[in-house]
Amino acid sequence: MEVLNGNQVSKSLKIAIKAEVEQLKKDGKKTPHLAAILVGNDGASMTYVAAKEKDCKEVGFDSTVLRFDSSITEEELLNEVIKINNNPAIDGLIVQLPLPKHISEKRVTETIDYHKDVDGFHPMNVGLMFKGLPSFLPATPFGIVKLLEHYGIETSGKHCVVIGRSDIVGKPMSALMLQKNCTVTVCHSKTKNIEEHILMADIIIAAVGIPEYLKASMVKEGAIVVDVGITRVDDSNNPKGYVLKGDVDYANVSSKCSWITPVPGGVGPMTRVGLLLNTLEAVKRK
Ligand code: GUN
Repeated sequence: MEVLNGNQVSKSLKIAIKAEVEQLKKDGKKTPHLAAILVGNDGASMTYVAAKEKDCKEVGFDSTVLRFDSSITEEELLNEVIKINNNPAIDGLIVQLPLPKHISEKRVTETIDYHKDVDGFHPMNVGLMFKGLPSFLPATPFGIVKLLEHYGIETSGKHCVVIGRSDIVGKPMSALMLQKNCTVTVCHSKTKNIEEHILMADIIIAAVGIPEYLKASMVKEGAIVVDVGITRVDDSNNPKGYVLKGDVDYANVSSKCSWITPVPGGVGPMTRVGLLLNTLEAVKRK
């Protein structure tokens, strides 16, 4: 078994992004600027936004974080999005999800100018992606494709089973693997005989959000396993009060597969680099 090392690959991609930013600046072009909107004080969301800010700094991007109390109304939030849409200094905008219940994530996502939608969640970008046209790809599937490409993983003619059908990971992942000439099966909570499908996979993308869901008995010998899960599981022995668990029973699955992503250090850092690549692309397209 070999490890698909997201930490290492993301580091080398960030060095390349930084060099491109320096070149843009030398050429008198714009410094990429990413804005993030954070509503409320969900622990995971605050951690993710802080990480995105740190990443921007590392590669030489400008970044702005707009923080709002969870009592903000939908209309007020939409007005903030429109202000950023109209601000030429800002190239990319993400609104960290989830949002409070009284705000429609659909309305917010659809209000972002799709030219600045570096999350790739706007229906325009989703449509372009499904047609294989230039678009902003959602950061996690984008990062996973980059990781597989880095290690020269053959996808053509392979059977890829995606477990999970979310708008953020499962659906776009299936589209991208199809474009990479895989035969794709998408499994979800209503799939019958799910283990039979997964056992046929050459490549498994686990994006269910259930800690250690994927057991060794569900994995074909020599399969490639990509673990998208990152769930906080309470652990009083840990100073943080929790540990991060993936969707894969790593201890038992790893000995059975040919390649595997660890958690942490696999998909997570590649997702972060996917967002940076999209923000850089937003500037280059101008
Ligand atoms: N919440 C969980 N993942 C994401 C993501 O990729 N983008 C945004 N905006 N919110 C998220």
